[in-house]
Amino acid sequence: MHENLNKAMVTNRTFTMLKPDSVEKGNIGAILEKITASGFRIVALKLTQMTTADAQAFYEVHSERPFYGELVEYMTRGPIVSAILEKDNAVEDFRTLIGATNPAEAAEGTIRKLYAASIGENAVHGSDSDENAAIESAFHFSGREQF
Ligand code: CMP
Repeated sequence: MHENLNKAMVTNRTFTMLKPDSVEKGNIGAILEKITASGFRIVALKLTQMTTADAQAFYEVHSERPFYGELVEYMTRGPIVSAILEKDNAVEDFRTLIGATNPAEAAEGTIRKLYAASIGENAVHGSDSDENAAIESAFHFSGREQF
C-alpha cells in the first residue's frame, strides 16, 4: 500500500533546466509561463551556475558521445534555472510540451520549437523517466528546497 502510494507520487514529478541559452536570451519568464499555463505546479525553483564537475556528473550517461565536451561547456557557460514540476503524468507530458531534442524536428508550439536554436543548444531539459526525474531532482535540490 505504501509502496504504491510512493510510486504514484513519483510519477507526478519531473525535473527541468532552462539551459544557459534560455537565460541569455531573456526567455525565463516566457518559458515558465508556458510551463505553468500547461498545468505544471512549480515544486522547486532556482537560478544557479553548474561547475564543470557538476555538468560532467549530470551528463555522465553521455560521456562517450562525441558531443560530451561541447555539452559540458555549453551547460556551464552561464546560469541555468532548475525546477521540479508536478502534474499527473509529469515526465511524459513535459516531454511532449518541450518537443523533440532537435528543434528542427520539434512540433509547432513546443518550447524547443519556439525557443531552441539547435540540437546542442536546445533551451530546456526534461527528465526521460520517473527514475531519472528523482535522481536529477536530488542532484539539484535538497529536501528543504522542495514544496
Ligand atoms: P537533453 O536531451 O536535455 O540532454 C542531453 C543533451 O545533449 C541534449 O539535451 C542536447 O543539449 C545535447 N545533445 C544531444 N544530441 C546532441 C548532438 N547530436 N549534438 C550536440 N549536442 C547534443
